[in-house]
Amino acid sequence: MGSGIAEVCARSGVDVTVVEADDTGIARAQAAIERSLDRAVKAGKLDAADREAAADRLAFTTSLADVEGSDAAIEAVFENEELKRRVFKRLDEALPDAAFLASNTSSVPIMKLGAETTHPGRVVGLHFFNPVPVLPLVEVVRSIMTSDETIERATSFAEETLGKTTIHSQDRAGFVVNALLIPYLLSAIRMYESGFASKEDIDEGMMKGCAHPMGPLQLADLIGLDTLLAVSESLYEEFRDPASVAPALLNRMVEAGLLGRKSGRGFYDYAG
Ligand SMILES: NC(=O)c1ccc[n+]([C@@H]2O[C@H](COP(=O)([O-])OP(=O)(O)OC[C@H]3O[C@@H](n4cnc5c(N)ncnc54)[C@H](O)[C@@H]3O)[C@@H](O)[C@H]2O)c1
Repeated sequence: MGSGIAEVCARSGVDVTVVEADDTGIARAQAAIERSLDRAVKAGKLDAADREAAADRLAFTTSLADVEGSDAAIEAVFENEELKRRVFKRLDEALPDAAFLASNTSSVPIMKLGAETTHPGRVVGLHFFNPVPVLPLVEVVRSIMTSDETIERATSFAEETLGKTTIHSQDRAGFVVNALLIPYLLSAIRMYESGFASKEDIDEGMMKGCAHPMGPLQLADLIGLDTLLAVSESLYEEFRDPASVAPALLNRMVEAGLLGRKSGRGFYDYAG
């Protein structure tokens, strides 16, 4: 998600500093962005000169201090509350007071991240969708402390600078889209787990019967099963709705490191 967000910002004319945890992370992010830019050129969505200009706007670092002076930060580290809280504390120290601090989190309340900062009014959710260069939606999430000015600036950044479509959500688990989507994906996993139908038939059924571009198990693999589990836990924690309880199979797959496309295997095999 981080590389997708960085790519979209760079293609929109924004200078971006990508902060990764280590050099391996940088190499992975750079390769993902290069591949995606090449795909866009091949598909005729980007010309060669714009591709080079976008690549030139991206700088990569492992030091968060290098974001000092930026107008905004968009955090997209692992879906781990403690890690995100630490990152927000450091972003608050590193960025000027006028900058807004956004999180792409799918499940951590924005207020918890705001509470780590000295100015929770400048903390907002900007929830992008995967793949970021392709899907137009961004959910703008307001915590009870987010200022009107931050909402206006973050919305205008997403809409006018990045050309995205925004919808607004309160700071409730799942925001709008995942609160509707996740119980559906969990029921598909339960259906597969119980032997009710094969994974291929479940996916085919929703694609051909409902014109969905991909089936629920394919979508779960694309989202990442760890992220899906984290969001389902946050939904259950907030609403106690049994429809949001993670099926045992999902827990076992995450414990096994079968995280979907990003790990090479989930409900389907992506190796090779
Ligand atoms: N996958 C999706 O479909 C999706 C959609 C919307 C939002 N999100 C959210 O985006 C975030 C990232 O999800 P993802 O699927 O890209 O996860 P991912 O596991 O693919 O990527 C996380 C990245 O964070 C980096 N990282 C970890 N610790 C770091 C640190 N201290 N400093 C800098 N970088 C660090 C890792 O090296 C890795 O590249 C999560 O909050 C997730 O909920 C995901």
